[in-house]
Amino acid sequence: MATQMSTIGVTRAYDRWAPIYDLVFGAVFRRGRSAAIDAAERIGGRIIEVGVGTGISLPQYSRANRIVAVDLSDPMLDKARERVRKLGLSHVEQIAVGDAEALNYVANAFDVVVAQYVVTAVPNPERALDEFARICRPGGEIVITTREGAGKGLRGRIEKALMPITSRLGFRTEFPFERYTDWAAGRGDIRLVEHRPLPPLGHFSLIRFAKIATSNDRA
Ligand SMILES: C[S@@+](CC[C@H](N)C(=O)[O-])C[C@H]1O[C@@H](n2cnc3c(N)ncnc32)[C@H](O)[C@@H]1O
Repeated sequence: MATQMSTIGVTRAYDRWAPIYDLVFGAVFRRGRSAAIDAAERIGGRIIEVGVGTGISLPQYSRANRIVAVDLSDPMLDKARERVRKLGLSHVEQIAVGDAEALNYVANAFDVVVAQYVVTAVPNPERALDEFARICRPGGEIVITTREGAGKGLRGRIEKALMPITSRLGFRTEFPFERYTDWAAGRGDIRLVEHRPLPPLGHFSLIRFAKIATSNDRA
């Protein structure tokens, strides 16, 4: 049976991670974060980072962009607020508690939606991806860094076996890339533009989706 995750369970998990998150996950995801920010800044403008956590990525964005930062966990965001204050990050427009599955922004509000190491932590990932597509303007991009599960073979079986443990820690080990492509295929306005492995070990990847203007947008 598939392991279920709940919003309250994930929130509590990251509330607990907050004091040590940067120490444990700061360096390991650094190159992936840089790759995501480079991709986001090729479009630039008003960027939302969903699941921003402690705001570890915020100083890396160019001051030419305006950044909105959202996360479920207030203790994680306290770290982000402190970072913004200490470093004087004036390009950060807003830091807000929010759920990726029900974002409090109007349609087409952002040029780029960034989600770094977040989608596999969300209880209903496809619902969050739909929200990313809704708030991204046509011509904009959704930039995701993500764990990518093996799906099959020994690694796939180990990832599945670990799920009851890792889901309590706030993330999935089992998450095949097809979850993303199946989601995109089910919509008429999203196109995969990039998929490349990230260090360490290629268990993570960078995924870019472009939002295409539809006849509804042009009407
Ligand atoms: C693995 S951490 C990644 C944090 C940061 N993006 C980074 O690069 O280190 C996952 C983050 O996603 C947040 N998160 C999980 N589910 C979420 C949801 N439904 N809505 C918003 N944030 C969520 C968690 O609170 C946590 O801060």
